[in-house]
Amino acid sequence: MKKRRSANQHSDISFDEDFLSASPQSRTAYRVALRQAEAVLLRDYALLTRCYSGAEAADLAEEIGGLEVCPEEGRGLESTLDLVGSSILRHSVVVSDPTCVGHLHCPPLIPALAAESLISATNQSMDSWDQAPAATYLEQRVIDWLGEALKLGTQADGIFTSGGTQSNLLGLLLSRDDFIQRRLGWRSQEKGLPPNAGKMRILASANAHFSVQQSAAILGLGQDAVVPVATDQLGRMDVAVAARFLDALTAQGLLPFAIVATVGTTDTGSIDPLSALADLADQWSAWLHVDAAYGGALVLSHRFGNRLEGVGRADSVTIDFHKLFYQPISCSALLVRDRRAFDTIRLRADYLNPEENEQAGLLDLVTKSIQTTRRFDGLKPFVSLHSVGRRRLAAMIEGTIDLASSTAAMIRDDPILELAMEPFLNALLFRYRPDGVPEAVLDAVNGTIRSRLLISGQALLARTKFSGRVFLKVTLLNPRTERHHIETILTRVKQAGDEAMLMF
Ligand SMILES: Cc1ncc(COP(=O)(O)O)c(C=O)c1O
Repeated sequence: MKKRRSANQHSDISFDEDFLSASPQSRTAYRVALRQAEAVLLRDYALLTRCYSGAEAADLAEEIGGLEVCPEEGRGLESTLDLVGSSILRHSVVVSDPTCVGHLHCPPLIPALAAESLISATNQSMDSWDQAPAATYLEQRVIDWLGEALKLGTQADGIFTSGGTQSNLLGLLLSRDDFIQRRLGWRSQEKGLPPNAGKMRILASANAHFSVQQSAAILGLGQDAVVPVATDQLGRMDVAVAARFLDALTAQGLLPFAIVATVGTTDTGSIDPLSALADLADQWSAWLHVDAAYGGALVLSHRFGNRLEGVGRADSVTIDFHKLFYQPISCSALLVRDRRAFDTIRLRADYLNPEENEQAGLLDLVTKSIQTTRRFDGLKPFVSLHSVGRRRLAAMIEGTIDLASSTAAMIRDDPILELAMEPFLNALLFRYRPDGVPEAVLDAVNGTIRSRLLISGQALLARTKFSGRVFLKVTLLNPRTERHHIETILTRVKQAGDEAMLMF
């Protein structure tokens, strides 16, 4: 660190070039730092030609576990970034590689990467207006746009969250407190759970995301409060079964208060029948939470937007921008149809969001959030949507859904492969299944195929269970994945399967 005269009385060190400011030294330091980061990213990451280097977990743990974290004297940014490039970036998952098709893990749009640099450099904190004056209104604007796009009505509102898990938690928290206040005449925010909270029940399809159960546990209702409803052959919640459960639970003196519908289940992309579930929720005065973490991006598509029919009748909706909206992690939102839902979690801190602010017309977003300090994540979808436009984004999403259909056809036509079900969105399950092989062997072989392809960097597929058996999963979020990539992946799956068969 250079020594200079400084206003800091306790030290003669200037920290000018450590932080971004108007000074020429600072701006130069920033430019150099970003150029160095860009050079490392382009060299050690963008040029990678496989979805994964193939490094084994134990080797990575050993190498990275030995890194010095905080030397007495800094090693300088360039050499630190070089170290990050060789130790970390080269062994990262290449999310934009066309064969990286495992999880709901998208390649991020370049405009969003540009927005990320503005988000971190300006470091606005979205809890109070005085820490994020313009950012507050931009996030609110994106939320209002989303509420309109989902047809949630004039009283809609929402808040950005860290991901679908937190959005689901917040939606179920609001539903719990609404029920407890409105129907049980109790205020859980002050008094905790009421004596009969143990009777409260949530209905969700057996294929709903595990964060529904996790939320019930965190909310003090217990995982067993979630009643799994059977699905039809296409993985959608069976409404008749849900209706019977509501009758039966009520007859037992239990209190079903919320129904969770999913738009795009994690494994098969199935979409629950929203309108029928909204009717059922109306009939039982239950809260309808729609987990559209995955499928919510269909609002952008004129071709497939009708698959969201009924979503506007939901009481709350989870949308993940870091899935099919191609945003870098993390970026999610929870929307509500009636903004008064947030009143049940409203808390005030004198230093942050005092009543006077609201009276003065200032918006402190913390009042709707279960986070305090929060990143300005709303900028990323704004920059992406505004710069790329609906039409092009819709074309990306639609292309992946079309590719999933043709992938399903390729699998169906292959005698060695078995398709679990037709895809609704762009996720599909299949397995290597030559005739006459016992199920237990097929499970082991398919698990081996998945790990072999990953460790050889040939393809990143996920592994899951379907009807109790091991299946491979492809999630075709990447608009750069084309038919020939799928043909290559399926050929590799069969080769790896043939080799694995020799082991069992
Ligand atoms: C349907 C669904 N809901 C919620 C989540 C959780 O989202 P996140 O990982 O952003 O917390 C996922 C994650 O894959 C999901 O598929």
